[in-house]
Amino acid sequence: MTSAKARALSGIQPTHDSFHLGNVLGAINQWVALQESHDAFYCVVDLHALTVEVEPALLRKRSLVSFAQLIALGIDPQKSTLFMQSHVPAHNQLGWVMECLTGFGEAGRMTQFKDKSAKNGTDRTVVGLFTYPMLQAADILLYQPQYVPVGEDQRQHIELTRDLSQRFNARFGETFIVPEGYILKSGAKINDLQEPTAKMSKSSASQAGVIEILDTPESNMKKFKSAMTDAGREVKFDEKEKPGISNLLSIHSAISGTSIDAIVSEFDGKGYGDFKGAVGEVVVEYLKPIRARTLELLEDSGELTRLMKAGAEKANAVASETIAKTYEAMGLIARG
Ligand code: TRP
Repeated sequence: MTSAKARALSGIQPTHDSFHLGNVLGAINQWVALQESHDAFYCVVDLHALTVEVEPALLRKRSLVSFAQLIALGIDPQKSTLFMQSHVPAHNQLGWVMECLTGFGEAGRMTQFKDKSAKNGTDRTVVGLFTYPMLQAADILLYQPQYVPVGEDQRQHIELTRDLSQRFNARFGETFIVPEGYILKSGAKINDLQEPTAKMSKSSASQAGVIEILDTPESNMKKFKSAMTDAGREVKFDEKEKPGISNLLSIHSAISGTSIDAIVSEFDGKGYGDFKGAVGEVVVEYLKPIRARTLELLEDSGELTRLMKAGAEKANAVASETIAKTYEAMGLIARG
């Protein structure tokens, strides 16, 4: 069962039809590595996805696809606890507790909330977006993890989680482990193929620069062949002068494990066209089995349901213990 390994927890939203290469090389591959050395909990945060407009059929599909992709990418349900957030009611229970611990002004200072609500206006901003960070704090604190592997953009949410856990412990007695962000370093910072100075992102204006792992090999190959390159013709790593080529070098290196220097010498004297084709080849070959495994899992809904259920059971066992402890510490009467 659970060993003396440090615990890690992270979550990903099921808001898109496919993960993209930036998710994989930037975060998920590191989740896969962490499950070897840590007692890892990973969840598809479907409740958080309710803060954007909900299309039921789409949410259902994307939740299943997200879960299947995590397995196809190497999250092993035997090693990690992989589950759907909505399958563990304690997330909502602890979320409420966290809301009652957070100041209104404090929540209003969260930059992601400020940005999104400023963009859409307060009437089109749901309260769930405001309380999103408190639900995220609950996701984390329920499992008492030491580490939360996330991208740089989550730093403020992790800070809030740390503050809330310390606040709770100070008021009601030691209950939560104060987790640390394990900010995933740019070992693989993957940029958009068409706009190579911007992060590859699900929300980028055009999909032409985003490599989706479930897209067909042909379509992905095409995106590589038409990737934006830079002035000059030499394949060389120089993020300032050659952001396009440098991004392609990073992608190749992250997948092939070949050093950037070695790739550069391999393409010495060859043109951008050859290079783009070669990077496309490396990526497409890498994604083929991942895509195939995802599609295979999606065909087998019985297996997916079974895996989800097993994950939810493991997660519930831990979470219900934490929620009982939390309620007790706050003076709520146990049901008995
Ligand atoms: N807010 C995170 C994101 O957008 C997703 C998330 C929700 C999460 N709950 C979490 C990440 C708990 C880590 C831990 O990426």
